[in-house]
Amino acid sequence: MKKVILAYSGGLDTSCIVRWLNGQGYEIICFVADLGQGLGEGEDLQAIEKRAYAAGASKIYIENLQDEFVDDFVLPALKANAVYEGKYLLATALGRPLIAKHLVEIAHKEKASLVAHGCTGKGNDQVRLEVAIGILDPKLEIIAPLRSWEFKSREEEIEYALKNNIPIDVTKKKPYSIDRNIWGISIEAGILENLEQEPPEDAYLITKGPTNIAGYPKYIEIYFEKGVPKKIDGKNYKLKSLISYLNEIGGLHGIGRQDLIENRLVGIKSREIYEAPAATILFTSHKELESLVLDRELSHFKEIISLKYAELIYYGLWYSPLKAALDSFILTTQKHVTGTIRLKLFKGNCVPVARKSAYSLYKKELSTYGKEDKFNQKLAEGFIKIWGMPYIGK
Ligand code: ARG
Repeated sequence: MKKVILAYSGGLDTSCIVRWLNGQGYEIICFVADLGQGLGEGEDLQAIEKRAYAAGASKIYIENLQDEFVDDFVLPALKANAVYEGKYLLATALGRPLIAKHLVEIAHKEKASLVAHGCTGKGNDQVRLEVAIGILDPKLEIIAPLRSWEFKSREEEIEYALKNNIPIDVTKKKPYSIDRNIWGISIEAGILENLEQEPPEDAYLITKGPTNIAGYPKYIEIYFEKGVPKKIDGKNYKLKSLISYLNEIGGLHGIGRQDLIENRLVGIKSREIYEAPAATILFTSHKELESLVLDRELSHFKEIISLKYAELIYYGLWYSPLKAALDSFILTTQKHVTGTIRLKLFKGNCVPVARKSAYSLYKKELSTYGKEDKFNQKLAEGFIKIWGMPYIGK
């Protein structure tokens, strides 16, 4: 029997895939990547395991990859200030290359020549997984049943699961398609496909909305060292717990909601809403610190790099040579990104209100309008003449 390593979520699609591939004569080994989607909280890990075996899996790997995710995928994106189309902090997109990496590793360990996933043929995630897998091991064959199987609807899949005694929870209504990890939540489908409608409150999972949002402001101080967030209010945190903590307080203050009509890689425009409290707070504060310590040219050039970096993540090109080259550039820019940003979280807004760094390039004696002014205003006259000469003509 040929072995297949399947990226398994425990949901209906991937459970049906196990049985469906089984029926075609494959042995299925399931791999569940825990990126902070709430496994073991709402989702009972044992139930997932049971479902995988009931569907016909021969083995299941459940791996907690949260530290690797934040250290090796989220952090480079944060240092880069990566944001897609001005709104999306790329939680889903950053998870895919990591899942691909582990799928490949398990395939090698299990001496399997096939891997499978449950992505649809219309989305970005199939591209991200398959390009990453292809780069990491071009010899592996990839199966994507959702692109080719006979089921046309969720109902047909439920019927198939019931007929095959796969224990799925059919009572749960599923109004949205949700992808969640510690860096953020992506929510689409259902009523959200109506662009003329405001997203209903029940679509949001971790951020409070207008009616139950905290009515008082919360101030926090984030300390960065070479672009890495290390402390909140003077207390040291490992990156994973720092992000979890910020998700909690950010959520309470309604931080990090986005509603985006986005351009997918496959040419479709789609509407997705996002929740990313910690990502928003960290992105805002990291950028604020850079404003203080990066000189003008580096700062402006980095904006171009940020845009490209976000595109590479979104386009599934994490393991590309350009991404690696940009990493070296970004690393250099972070040399002096050390200091503290004080933020005010209030009713959905996350605003930097104070900043401090030993590498600050701000010089009060040059910018002040007070009497301690050291700026030589006489020099400005000559500067303007030469600067404007090409246009003024004299
Ligand atoms: N649009 C986002 C991306 O391409 C998220 C995709 C998955 N979304 C979901 N709701 N299942 O990265």
